[in-house]
Amino acid sequence: MKLLFYNTKIYDRHTFDELLPRYPAIQIDYQDARFDESTAALARGYDAVCIFVNDDANARALEILNGCNVKLLLLRCAGFNQVDLQAAAKYGITVLRVPSYSPEAVAEHAMALALAANRHVHKAYVKVRENDFSLEGLRGRNFYQKTAGIIGTGKIGSAMARICRGFGMNVIAYDMYPNRDLDFVTYVTLDELLSQSDLISLHCPLLDSTRHMIDRETIQKMKDGVILVNTSRGGLVKTEDLIEGIRARKFFAVGLDVYEEESRNVYADRSNDIMENSVTARLLSFPNVIITSHQGFFTREALDAIGTTTMENAVAYMKGGKIDTEVHMKD
Ligand code: NAI
Repeated sequence: MKLLFYNTKIYDRHTFDELLPRYPAIQIDYQDARFDESTAALARGYDAVCIFVNDDANARALEILNGCNVKLLLLRCAGFNQVDLQAAAKYGITVLRVPSYSPEAVAEHAMALALAANRHVHKAYVKVRENDFSLEGLRGRNFYQKTAGIIGTGKIGSAMARICRGFGMNVIAYDMYPNRDLDFVTYVTLDELLSQSDLISLHCPLLDSTRHMIDRETIQKMKDGVILVNTSRGGLVKTEDLIEGIRARKFFAVGLDVYEEESRNVYADRSNDIMENSVTARLLSFPNVIITSHQGFFTREALDAIGTTTMENAVAYMKGGKIDTEVHMKD
C-alpha cells in the first residue's frame, strides 16, 4: 500500500519512519504541502493519503482524490471537522481517524495555559530576561478551592477534571452525556457552569451545534474575572465577541491553543510576515492573553500513539471489514 502524507514536519517523519519496519506492506512518501483542492492531484498513483488537523479536505479536494482513484483518507488526528464527510460518502472515500492518543497530553496543556495565563508566566519570562525583576502586572490568583468548569467531559475533559481536582479545585461540568466515572464532578446546566466557574475549559467537539457556543451572550453569563481556556477548536469561540469581552475587562486571563484564524498560522513560521487584519495580533496585544499554536497534542507519547493507530488503520483497511475508527456522516 502506497501512502502519501501531506503537511508533514520533521517530527512526523521521525515518528513514522521509526514505525515503518513493522509494516513491510506499507510504503510512505512525505509532502510538505498542505492538503486542499490545489494539492490533491499529487495523490495520483497512491492508495491513500494521510492528512492533519489544518488540512482542508473540502468537497472539491475529495472529488479530485476520487478522480485519482484514492479511496482512503487517513487522519493522523482526532478531530475531523476539516473533512467534508458528505463529499467523502458521495465519492466512497473511507475516512479513518485516531480517536484517542493521549487525552492527558491535551489536558496537561490546557492546565499549562491556565496556569501561565493566571500567573502571567509569559510576561514574567520576558521581564526577567530584560533584567526587570519587578512584580508589577504579575499578580495571579490561587486555583486552590476555586471552581473549575469543564465543558465536555469526554476523554480530554475527564483528564482535565482529574487535574483540576488534583489542584484542590471544586469541579463542575456540562455535558449532555455525564461521565459517571467522574464521581467527584458535579454536573450542572451550561448557564450554571458559566455563572459559577472561576476557570472555564472547553473540551467539546466543534459541531454545528457548538460553533460559537462562547459568544457575547454566554460571555455575559460568566463571572467577572473568569479565566477561559480553549484547547478544543477555535470555532467554539466567537473571536470578535471574545475580544469585546476582554476589552470590557470580563476576563482575568485567556489561554488559547486554538482560535478561529489559526489555519494559515498553525505550524508555519510567519515571523517575517506583516500580519494585516490579524485577529491573532489583536488578541496578542492584550497582556492577559496567551496563545499557543495548536500544540496540545504535542508530546512524545501522543505522537507515538498517533503513529501506531494510523498505521493500524491502514492495515485494517487493507484487511477489509468493519473498522472502529471510521468516521461516518452521522458523527
Ligand atoms: P470526546 O469525544 O472523548 O469528548 C467530547 C465530549 O464533548 C463528549 O463527552 C460529548 O458528549 C461532549 N459534547 C458534545 N457536544 C457538547 C456540547 N454542546 N456541550 C457540552 N459537551 C458536549 O473528545 P476528546 O477526545 O475529549 O476531544 C475533545 C476535543 O478536543 C476534540 O473534539 C478536539 O476538537 C480537541 N482536541 C484538541 C487537540 C489539541 O492539540 N489542542 C488534540 C486533540 C483533540
